[in-house]
Amino acid sequence: VRDLTALGIAAIVGAGIFSTIGKASFDGGPGIVFLFIFVAIACGFSALCYAEFASMVPVSGSAYTYAYVAFGEIVAWIIGWDLLMEYAIGNIAVAISWSDYFTTLLAGLGFTIPAYLTMDFWTAQAMLSPEAIAAWTNAPTLLGIKIICDLPAFFIVVLITYITYIGIQESRNSANAMVALKLAVIFIVIVVGAFYVKPENWSPFLPNGIAVVLRGTAAVFFAYIGFDAISTTAEEAKNPQRDLPRSMIYSLIICTVIYVAIALVLTGMVNYTQLDVGDPLAFVFQKINMSWLAGIIAVSAVIATASVMLVFQVGQPRIW
Ligand code: ALA
Repeated sequence: VRDLTALGIAAIVGAGIFSTIGKASFDGGPGIVFLFIFVAIACGFSALCYAEFASMVPVSGSAYTYAYVAFGEIVAWIIGWDLLMEYAIGNIAVAISWSDYFTTLLAGLGFTIPAYLTMDFWTAQAMLSPEAIAAWTNAPTLLGIKIICDLPAFFIVVLITYITYIGIQESRNSANAMVALKLAVIFIVIVVGAFYVKPENWSPFLPNGIAVVLRGTAAVFFAYIGFDAISTTAEEAKNPQRDLPRSMIYSLIICTVIYVAIALVLTGMVNYTQLDVGDPLAFVFQKINMSWLAGIIAVSAVIATASVMLVFQVGQPRIW
């Protein structure tokens, strides 16, 4: 149960809380906390369904297998492709976010990777930011084609795929280590951040009304997906009928508590109107001149997003 719960937390806590929460808080204000609770309840129903199925059909394949048993091949085929796309597209988004944090971290240490090796072709071609303009103008040309690629994102996907390929024991050990580290850092963020909360930042709690808060649903839901990935490991679990449902619910509860606490600390430390940034957790600590903690958060974001990719990548071949 402990390993599976860690696997769930590994998949859940990632780019969502380290990155997209900034924009959602910027729109909705401190009331974003309500959205974290609403989405957790919705995911809770989904997790209960998964739990019920996981104990009825304790084999690999997650929702694909459940749909197969319940509705037959056509529905299962559709669900199977949905899942493959969830894990593939989820990993693309997370790998790009990983690359952003990683290159910022390297830059902080004095190493810079040329911009044309850290972004995708279309972003560079659109030239909407100084980095994109630099990437487009400096990129070398081969046979008339500009060489532009997100090398760190490619590198991390290859590395994660390799760990997944070696085996479930290694994947489990890597996930456990990464989860321990990210939970430790998140705990520090919440405890240290709590001392810098100014309650006046929470007033008004719903500056733009609940309707605007609800606009962040997609971003907040993204922060929660991953608990379902545990169910792909049913064949490697010792007692899937008992342990899969428990670990799904445990990981969801633990992550809800973490998310609500982070949202409260974040919107309490600075005014929500300042949170329109890609790295909100590091940003608020830079604001209060705690750059050392901002640095630790950036390292932990790199590890947290890598662990999300690991679990999604573990799920992928099991659904295939
Ligand atoms: N829940 C995962 C994340 O936020 C997908 O990175």
